[in-house]
Amino acid sequence: MFALVSFSLPAMEVLIRENPDAGCILGAKIIARVVRDKPDAVLGLATGRTPLRLYQELIRLHREEGLDFSRVTTFNLDEYVGLPGTHDQSYRYFMDENLFRHINIDRNRTHVPDGTASDLHAECRGYEQRIADAGGIDIQLLGLGRNGHIGFNEPTGSLRSRTWIKILSEQTLRDNSEVFGSLEAMPKHALTMGIGTILDARRCLLLAFGPAKVRAVEHMIEGPLAAICPGSALQLHSRATIILDENSAAGLRYADHYRWIDKHKFEWQRIK
Ligand code: GLP
Repeated sequence: MFALVSFSLPAMEVLIRENPDAGCILGAKIIARVVRDKPDAVLGLATGRTPLRLYQELIRLHREEGLDFSRVTTFNLDEYVGLPGTHDQSYRYFMDENLFRHINIDRNRTHVPDGTASDLHAECRGYEQRIADAGGIDIQLLGLGRNGHIGFNEPTGSLRSRTWIKILSEQTLRDNSEVFGSLEAMPKHALTMGIGTILDARRCLLLAFGPAKVRAVEHMIEGPLAAICPGSALQLHSRATIILDENSAAGLRYADHYRWIDKHKFEWQRIK
């Protein structure tokens, strides 16, 4: 039904909320709706600081409102090369700690690329195959790097890429090094779904908050479609929802337009 109304929306549905908290609660509501409508939904998940609050809200919805994950399958975007799932900075560990062990999901249905695989190319191909075998991703959750990356797809990577091995940029290493203690301690490579893989998801939901994301947000939504800002590839998606806070939306030329559209949606277009 939503697809029928896309004529009246911008390329991306841009939702600006007063703060990250409100944005994450809205994001959780969208994912919960997908799971309620399709109990065996396939969710694409993300790591980073941005979705933490959203995961807390999903846990609350599970505990207090019976949101059922027992038939849900998940695929995470990315993983560092060389880190086993037991390493406290691996993305597998992040997901176990921040979501999976708090909900009734079958751990065998949760997938994170294996950064310790002896044949990384085979692992990438296998990951694509597992996504296809699961019937594709119903909704892909995304964060946005300060340099515009999505997953670990750094600037200038192919917009048609499939799950692959990426060398992390210095900017990304600096941004993520805090939790590793030092830049030297950080893996310099990662496995990530490609941009083509992400665009194949039936729906994309990207969250970006705070002043550090202003430039990336501006380019992603209003800049040219260009490999230099991997997030801008979402302009090609027919159903991409972007949730921002006032800080990350501060550079948008059409911010008032997005607010206007949000305010004047038909009742049936609203996220409930
Ligand atoms: C990391 C992850 C991305 C994440 C991004 C932003 O490098 N690979 O998936 O979206 O950086 O992280 P944060 O949410 O902490 O700002």
